[in-house]
Amino acid sequence: MSDPSEQQWHPESYAARGRFVSDLGAPVLTLLDPRPGERVLDLGCGDGALTEQLVALGARVIGVDACAAMVAGARARGLEAQVLDGQALAFEAAFEAVFSNAALHWMLQSERVIAGVHRALVPGGRFVAELGGQGNVAAIHGTLERALDVRGLAAPHDTFFPTPEHYASLLVAGGFNVESIALIPRPTPLPGDVGDWITTFAHGFLAPLPPKERPTFVAEVVEALRPQLLGADGLWRADYVRLRFRAIRRETPTP
Ligand code: BEZ
Repeated sequence: MSDPSEQQWHPESYAARGRFVSDLGAPVLTLLDPRPGERVLDLGCGDGALTEQLVALGARVIGVDACAAMVAGARARGLEAQVLDGQALAFEAAFEAVFSNAALHWMLQSERVIAGVHRALVPGGRFVAELGGQGNVAAIHGTLERALDVRGLAAPHDTFFPTPEHYASLLVAGGFNVESIALIPRPTPLPGDVGDWITTFAHGFLAPLPPKERPTFVAEVVEALRPQLLGADGLWRADYVRLRFRAIRRETPTP
């Protein structure tokens, strides 16, 4: 659930402002359909909230995440978890399934991720995941980008939100048969305002600014987003678009 620049993730603030991410994980868990005793790798496990649910369903789960603080949070739940970059997985035929929720969009080297997942799975094993897809948080990121641009600053390129066609082609080239892949627009109610979302999830857009300028910057972006993202019911909604897929490992990495 978290990117490799681990200093920016704090389990306590994530729990307060980002818990909705794992709370909304039911559809991808259903798509995984874990069976008792099965070995599952949770790729980008964050603080282990969904890993814990997989364990409760009877799976034998190892969680990996690039962020040491998040892995510590997962271990505090009694889970088996390792600090590991998802772009450099070194497991060999160790799992019947690899699961991932809201993490793959931080791993820009998709071919390396897919190759590592392919190696980690037994033949016939499944790779089931959800990530941000094409158009994900386009209003939020676009507004942040423009607010940086008027200050002469460049936006980061630290996430990627692929189309189903693009990600499916990567999976096929990496040795998977794609059973299903779809974009799912999901405007997502936030626990606070979009400013909280930005400070929790958009560190890369704040990094170019001196710390003392960040609150003003965030307030400006919140005001610009108000007409689009604040509902008549008083809830802020992030313009999430999920890409959810289920793919099966072929014997060999090439079609
Ligand atoms: C997402 O889960 O879609 C997301 C998380 C952080 C930054 C951007 C998108």
